[in-house]
Amino acid sequence: MSRYLLQNSDMGLRLVDRFSHQHPLHISFSDAGFSYRLKRSGPKKEMIAKAVAVKPSLKVIDCTAGLGRDAFLLASLGCEVTMFERSKVMAFLLEDALNRALSDERLAEAASRITLVQGDAITLLGRQSTRSDVILIDPMFPIRKKSAQVKGTMQFLQRFIGKDEDVSTLMKCAMATGSQRIVLKRPFSAVELDGFTPTFSLKGKSSRFDIFLQ
Ligand SMILES: C[S@@+](CC[C@H](N)C(=O)[O-])C[C@H]1O[C@@H](n2cnc3c(N)ncnc32)[C@H](O)[C@@H]1O
Repeated sequence: MSRYLLQNSDMGLRLVDRFSHQHPLHISFSDAGFSYRLKRSGPKKEMIAKAVAVKPSLKVIDCTAGLGRDAFLLASLGCEVTMFERSKVMAFLLEDALNRALSDERLAEAASRITLVQGDAITLLGRQSTRSDVILIDPMFPIRKKSAQVKGTMQFLQRFIGKDEDVSTLMKCAMATGSQRIVLKRPFSAVELDGFTPTFSLKGKSSRFDIFLQ
């Protein structure tokens, strides 16, 4: 019996962990918490918006789509976002959530600015013919000892995906594209990624954005 099961439900596609009592993983851009964040988000309020230097029609490649929240937020602020996700299962969940958003009049405009590509950004960045203004990288953080602190869907994602071990390679590929701005999300007190000194950093409560201008 495999541990994880992809299931259709009334709410859409969801991922069940048969070894856990936790709620299945389900991506929705219309859940109450995210809707509230979208409503109050603005270029000046969201740290991600500042990190990316958001403006309408900015072309962003999100190399680590995950739950698609950063990508959706940036798209709702007018960015054209291409998101890469290497987990096929996560890409199925994202595709399902995006399709639902496209048929929701409150979300359709932002959803229409997002393109999802399933695959490894390390390969895809080399192939990408259209250059982007900004490349965003938000890898899975190492699991903290007090992992109960990592709540809900993120906790599920950490269990399912594990730690992303090849962030340095991904950073090298991002730099090689010649993109002018690369944004790397890191745990608040993590040391700099070996060999990569940011131009500046923006610090939040539990994480920070290292920004590389080139
Ligand atoms: C921490 S999550 C990203 C969360 C996302 N920023 C959000 O707002 O929901 C990291 C995701 O990036 C994906 N990922 C990591 N390295 C990748 C790579 N090289 N190419 C594509 N996807 C990658 C993982 O599979 C995981 O789903």
